[in-house]
Amino acid sequence: MSEEVFRKAAEAINRAPLVVAVTGAGASVESGIPDFRSTGGLWSKYPPAEYATMDAFLDDPDKVWVMFYELGETILAAQPNPGHLALAKLEEFGKLQGIVTQNIDGLHQQAGNTVVIEYHGNVHNLGCSSCFRRRRMDLSFRAHGAPRCECGGYMKPSVVLFGEPIPPKPLMQADTLARTCNAMLIVGTSAQVYPAAGLPYAAKENGAFIIECNVEPTEFTHSITDAFLQGPAGENLPKLAQLVMAR
Ligand code: APR
Repeated sequence: MSEEVFRKAAEAINRAPLVVAVTGAGASVESGIPDFRSTGGLWSKYPPAEYATMDAFLDDPDKVWVMFYELGETILAAQPNPGHLALAKLEEFGKLQGIVTQNIDGLHQQAGNTVVIEYHGNVHNLGCSSCFRRRRMDLSFRAHGAPRCECGGYMKPSVVLFGEPIPPKPLMQADTLARTCNAMLIVGTSAQVYPAAGLPYAAKENGAFIIECNVEPTEFTHSITDAFLQGPAGENLPKLAQLVMAR
């Protein structure tokens, strides 16, 4: 990876009044949380059609909770990695105004970022599918299958399943950030799931400089990316943050 690309990316961030990051599962892989579509990713073990749609959940909540409990256990044990910490440093340094994350692990907030839009929700908070009761993820129910609500309904993590709409608040906030930022840092996403994957295109349309950090090229790389930092986020983001803060 040439130093020139890192320098170009750092300069773009330093020139930009408004910098926004869009992150995907690749940002949390070095925290021990598998991504979805790489070899051995979550979807190879739990096919999304069977485990990650609202119909699948309503059909067989106990079955879908097998995946949620496994994901919950991995996420509860995970810590922010150097890539998360680098993004928190950039916010502290005033060079990152917000993160739109597709991740449901809460690791950006744990790392110290305070403006985090959870586009696909958060696995830590449960909501009842029949009433409005809420509860925190608690692995102790694991032996009894899907946790039940006092009302008799099933609890579900407040994550967006396939076929569910993105809640209006994160949808609007993310769209505004994408359309007004001057630089966008895309970290660890395969660019395959909309509407999240549309955000970088909206930023590009607004003239933003696009920096992409991924271990392999994506749809973005050959179409809208201006600086491609190929490699693990846990290595490349600290390097980028160091260059930005050394200005
Ligand atoms: N550093 C940077 N990028 C990485 C790393 C790493 N250490 N490890 C993997 N990646 C990249 C992969 O190359 C891939 O491009 O992260 C991306 C992960 O892609 P996906 O598994 O498809 O995850 P994501 O893009 O976040 O999926 C979007 O799809 O299934 C739904 O709701 C789910 O939020 C998810 C959405």
